[in-house]
Amino acid sequence: MGKAKVTVVGAGFVGATAAQRIVEKDLADVVLVDIVEGLPQGKALDIMQSAAVEGFSSSMIGTNRYQDTADSHVIVITAGFARKPGMSRDDLLFKNTEIVGGIVTECAQYSPRAIIVMVTNPLDVMTWLACKKSGFPAERVIGMAGELDSARYAYFLSEELKCKPNDVKATVLGGHGDQMVPVPDYTLVHGKPITQLLTPERIAQINQRTRDGGAEIVKLLKTGSAYYAPSSSAVRMVRAILKDTRETIPSCVYLQGQYGLKDVYCGVPAKLGREGVQEIVEITLTEAERKALHASAEDVRQNFFKLTI
Ligand code: NAI
Ligand code: 2OP
Repeated sequence: MGKAKVTVVGAGFVGATAAQRIVEKDLADVVLVDIVEGLPQGKALDIMQSAAVEGFSSSMIGTNRYQDTADSHVIVITAGFARKPGMSRDDLLFKNTEIVGGIVTECAQYSPRAIIVMVTNPLDVMTWLACKKSGFPAERVIGMAGELDSARYAYFLSEELKCKPNDVKATVLGGHGDQMVPVPDYTLVHGKPITQLLTPERIAQINQRTRDGGAEIVKLLKTGSAYYAPSSSAVRMVRAILKDTRETIPSCVYLQGQYGLKDVYCGVPAKLGREGVQEIVEITLTEAERKALHASAEDVRQNFFKLTI
């Protein structure tokens, strides 16, 4: 692959920060798209004016036209409404379906071989919608949520256990919603499961804080939702795809029998590389975790079937 090209749709908080991280890491040239005239152009120009200081050589342009996105390797979709205090991710369902549906159709037309990384909420349903609308094989349409939820879990555990966040290998499965499933047996600190380090009561509290991780930030910010950790997580997925690292990243993928779930998008560990999802990784769950994963997937399914597409 020559110089990679990544389109980021939505020049809001998540999109602009993701675009910034991609060029600062020199992962790809970026096309930043938004419906608001001037917004992506202004942000791209501002970020490019930091290139001499930051020392990156990748380029970024801002645009309102999908022609400029042609032949992108990866398309990150962050456009749409974000949560306000008191709103659930599902409140965004119908508004964002309309926005995301149109964007995916445009992007798929100009970059028929791209891999889509969905970020817009409600995440699992939007990822499924993108797969339908693009007509792409499911392995090329992936949602970002599990990586973020796992990163939050790792951070909370690092605070509790007084270690570095990076020393925690956390696993959170399920849909990106209130029913997500932290998996303590597969959450390791220096190789030891946290079930050997913390009481079940303390683990249950940290699991709940993780489930509420997005809402905690919405409550603090008051006018929008998280974007630093979300953009980091999306860019980690973009990097794995562009560099073909095949590392295991909790991702929203299309399940076809894995974990006893069929024909539904939901969060599980997956190896990501140049072709998108290279392999879905099945870990052993307790009966309670398996039940919780099925309930979470059922929630995604119910919401997807509310859509008339
Ligand atoms: P934001 O409001 O800052 O940015 C959204 C951008 O989308 C705006 O600039 C808006 O002009 C643009 N937009 C709206 N309609 C468009 C269209 N038809 N075409 C192109 N651009 C359009 O919101 P923020 O904070 O960046 O969040 C974006 C989305 O990401 C939200 O749905 C939010 O819930 C979701 N999100 C998902 C996370 C996850 O874990 N999957 C984490 C954080 C946010
Ligand atoms: C988050 O988890 C709102 O989904 C977004 O921060």
